Amino acid sequence: MKGIILAGGAGSRLFPMTRSVSKQLIPVYDKPLIYYSLSTLIYTGVKDILCISTSNDQNAFKKLLGNGEQFGVKINYEIQNKPNGIAEAFLIAENFIKNSKCVLILGDNIFYGLENTAKLSKTTFIKGARIFSCEVEDPSRYGVINFNKNKITSIIEKPHKPTSNLAVTGLYFYDDKVTKIVKKLTPSKRRELEITDVNNKYISLNLIDNVIMNNNVVWLDAGTPSSLLQASQFVQTIQDRQNKIICSPEEASLIMKNYSLKDFNKVLKSYPNNDYSNYLRKISKK
Ligand code: TTP
Repeated sequence: MKGIILAGGAGSRLFPMTRSVSKQLIPVYDKPLIYYSLSTLIYTGVKDILCISTSNDQNAFKKLLGNGEQFGVKINYEIQNKPNGIAEAFLIAENFIKNSKCVLILGDNIFYGLENTAKLSKTTFIKGARIFSCEVEDPSRYGVINFNKNKITSIIEKPHKPTSNLAVTGLYFYDDKVTKIVKKLTPSKRRELEITDVNNKYISLNLIDNVIMNNNVVWLDAGTPSSLLQASQFVQTIQDRQNKIICSPEEASLIMKNYSLKDFNKVLKSYPNNDYSNYLRKISKK
């Protein structure tokens, strides 16, 4: 199974912060936003990851993430020339995915506590599609799930009159048919290849698994100035109260046994002394 982090987009709601820096490189409290999605992706068990960004930002992502060695995974890079929609990721990633299954995560999504969900593990995913949904206050900002009794009938993108408050989050598992499905899509009214159209196709094939996140999981997106600040405050509060660092890709990889303790310590030697590296040093001794 392969992993994709989609880290392009216009970031217009965060302008002018995003004028010279991509949204996913902006800090959320003590680490760049993309660290959060990278750690979730590592917890799925994938080790081969593609980071898709704009051409302007690719070098900065390479500087931050390198070839992935420091995180115990392999990271490759591709460019999305224009924000043509989330589903375009599968066309850009076609050669990378080949005939594998894959998991896509949006680089501005933050999941806290999801690593304890069995369905996050790639080993529990066989075929079709898997989406992760979450109850929200304001569903009309998201892709919202329609149900008939308990069965999903469709997902509606940003509905005026939502029929449920379950929003689809930015984490998706697909089988090897996804690229073929995307190739048959036509762009929506907003001229994007919509991930909702991909999911609706899997719904029509009766091949979708909807994982509803429980109350122990927190899902945040950091796409507006206010949600970015809230996300930082959330991370600071949890970390200070629990005396730990959350969503560290290095810790995720250590837990997933992606690197030996010796390799992990070698990585830590290259880090400056601060709260982040000291936390990693502490857990490596446990
Ligand atoms: P959005 O938040 O929908 O868009 P955006 O990041 O461009 O921000 P804004 O609406 O403020 O202009 O995107 C969600 C995530 O998906 C985000 O991480 C960027 C990514 N994305 C792409 O990489 N390419 C795309 O074509 C789209 C639509 C989104």
